[in-house]
Amino acid sequence: MRVTIPEIRKMKEQGIPIPMLTAYDAVTARLVEEAEVPLILVGDSLGMVVLGYTDTTAVTMDDMLHHVKAVMRGSRRALVVADMPFMSYTVSLERAMDNAARFIQEAGAQAVKLEGGRSVAETVRRLVAAGIPVMGHVGLTPQQVLNLGGYRVQGRSLAAAEEILRDAVAVETAGAFALVLECIPAELARLITESLGIPTIGIGAGPDCDGQVQVIHDLLGWIPDFTPKHAKRYADLGETIRNAARKFADEVRTRRFSIPERAVSMDDAVIRSLKDRLSTIRAPREDDL
Ligand code: KIV
Repeated sequence: MRVTIPEIRKMKEQGIPIPMLTAYDAVTARLVEEAEVPLILVGDSLGMVVLGYTDTTAVTMDDMLHHVKAVMRGSRRALVVADMPFMSYTVSLERAMDNAARFIQEAGAQAVKLEGGRSVAETVRRLVAAGIPVMGHVGLTPQQVLNLGGYRVQGRSLAAAEEILRDAVAVETAGAFALVLECIPAELARLITESLGIPTIGIGAGPDCDGQVQVIHDLLGWIPDFTPKHAKRYADLGETIRNAARKFADEVRTRRFSIPERAVSMDDAVIRSLKDRLSTIRAPREDDL
């Protein structure tokens, strides 16, 4: 039985901090839930940390479905949230409904996440009414990178902070079960967290959110030359992978990798008979003629 939406809501009521991590494949999903992380986000950060794009706008529904399915195969207990990619929910309500339904029906996710506030409130309302749980996402919304011209903290001025507060309230009113707050001042995140009944999950939004989400690659040091300010490195996986690959290549080159202990052998008589038959099997060479 997977973690449920009411269980996540209850964690806020009981003051229990909510950890959420991204995962994009079955093995990582299994490891993350074995670590008792109740919420897995298959984020469209997939585009940047797995697929090699410079931002998330290139990520497609097909990309996301492929990876959500993998995460579902690898997990049994976590509540899996599928991130709706760029342009998959803003062209029309119908398109949003169809795409969100694919994540639930085809891929088996428990919820979808979409970016935006008042501009997507009606979409959130329709999805929730149709039975699709929605996680909102306000503050820095990476799918707006082309408009924003980069990734920077949002909501520092009174006017900008009020916009984000209004967006947060709109998404809750529309029926979202939780809300990601990305890269906003800690004081604003605290005010939003205190004002909403639904859990807030922060990333670069200070310590007072109800939960915290991180891109797993940032925690693992998987991308060796980049760690965002809000992340903490618990491992140096990039260096570990590079070192292991280097050692392997070196051992292959110096013929130290494939030692008899790692090989399987066959009966002497079988290989002798096979050699006897070789001339009838191989293509005739010039000197055989
Ligand atoms: O795509 C993603 O990983 C996200 C998180 C950063 C919240 O949206």
